[in-house]
Amino acid sequence: MDELESLIEQQQYNEAYAVIKQKLESTPENTELLQKLGLVLYYLGDLTQAEDYLIKCFEIQGSLENLYNVIVVKHELKKHEEVIYLAGEYLAIDPNNVSALDILGNSYCAKDDYPNALKAYEKAYRVNQHEALGEKIQYAKEKIAEIIKQQEKVRLLGWSDDFYKLSMFGAKNRKGRELSFPFLFKDQVIEYKLMEIFVKYGYKVMSQVSVLDIGCGDGRFLRQLIDWGAEPDRLAGVDINKDIIALAQKLSAPGINYEVAHADQLPYEDKSFDIILMIGVMQHIMEKSLRRRIADELLRVLKDDGILICYNINENAETKFQHKQLRESTKGITEKELKKIFVSCNVDHENILLSDSIIFRNVPVQWGSLFDRALSSVAESHDYGIAVITKVV
Ligand SMILES: C[S@@+](CC[C@H](N)C(=O)[O-])C[C@H]1O[C@@H](n2cnc3c(N)ncnc32)[C@H](O)[C@@H]1O
Repeated sequence: MDELESLIEQQQYNEAYAVIKQKLESTPENTELLQKLGLVLYYLGDLTQAEDYLIKCFEIQGSLENLYNVIVVKHELKKHEEVIYLAGEYLAIDPNNVSALDILGNSYCAKDDYPNALKAYEKAYRVNQHEALGEKIQYAKEKIAEIIKQQEKVRLLGWSDDFYKLSMFGAKNRKGRELSFPFLFKDQVIEYKLMEIFVKYGYKVMSQVSVLDIGCGDGRFLRQLIDWGAEPDRLAGVDINKDIIALAQKLSAPGINYEVAHADQLPYEDKSFDIILMIGVMQHIMEKSLRRRIADELLRVLKDDGILICYNINENAETKFQHKQLRESTKGITEKELKKIFVSCNVDHENILLSDSIIFRNVPVQWGSLFDRALSSVAESHDYGIAVITKVV
């Protein structure tokens, strides 16, 4: 081992630096020396100078090793855009290089591009099943799930604003409108079904029952329960939309516990409710993983002998909407999917008839009174399903 190598070996970097500088005076393009100088500067913490020398070294001798050194120092300098580009060049020649894939993944992570980071880590893991790579794969997957959840929440809030406008439209119309058959028909089908289910499952004295309405909208079903004898202070309603919760509070008798909350993070203790209603909500949650998390959260707050009533459009219905926004923010649910989401539960599913779908399919709400008039075209549809979900304990 020559003097220089032994200095580096003994981590005497300042001394090594002086020796290299002196040698470079006579041979300034010696790539071996330039590479060592870059390395020594790197260890001394002078990353900017290290980068300069390593780039120079690579320019004189464009080997993969020299390119890799440039990538490493640029990564340390957090020049992630450049790392991604250069690692791409490197991997075009040596596609299975684990270290380059790892650095590439790290730079993607630093730029919050987790899907690409995951690809890089997974490729590296296929070559070398190193534990640290496994952990990075897990980390990228969790980040992706987090982002999807966040995006889904933003989308849902946007959609729920539209639903709020629709409710306001309903509220405005409610003032001057005479009761009409279609409205009775539409609401009463669900009401009749709810009552049928309550009786079937033994909830005959409503005053003793605690109920949570998920995505309660303007609270219409909770008010209906009060008419059937429920105690307001045993009722709760949550919705992600604060405006609609304010409307529900305005329209309802005091006592009902209304909260602005997301269905996957409920502000209630475990096993708090006898009955949970979820009417026309799951169908607007497009992300499967979020549907599952919501299901878990609902089961958490449901009593062991409680029932969860889930009402949705069926699988094939969403394609039938002419209303673009409804089509894009609705995904029907089959009995099979409900069984998958509500793991280890009994799912008692039934198709029901409603006029709703025909109306929404044909008349945009912006048509105002025409929209209202369209409600009188009573039509039948098998597009909806109501399921009673119970725990198997
Ligand atoms: C089609 S509306 C149904 C409202 C009410 N259940 C009814 O039938 O009148 C859907 C409601 O669910 C709410 N919502 C959507 N996603 C939600 C979520 N993840 N958690 C809580 N509420 C949600 C919306 O803001 C909207 O008020």
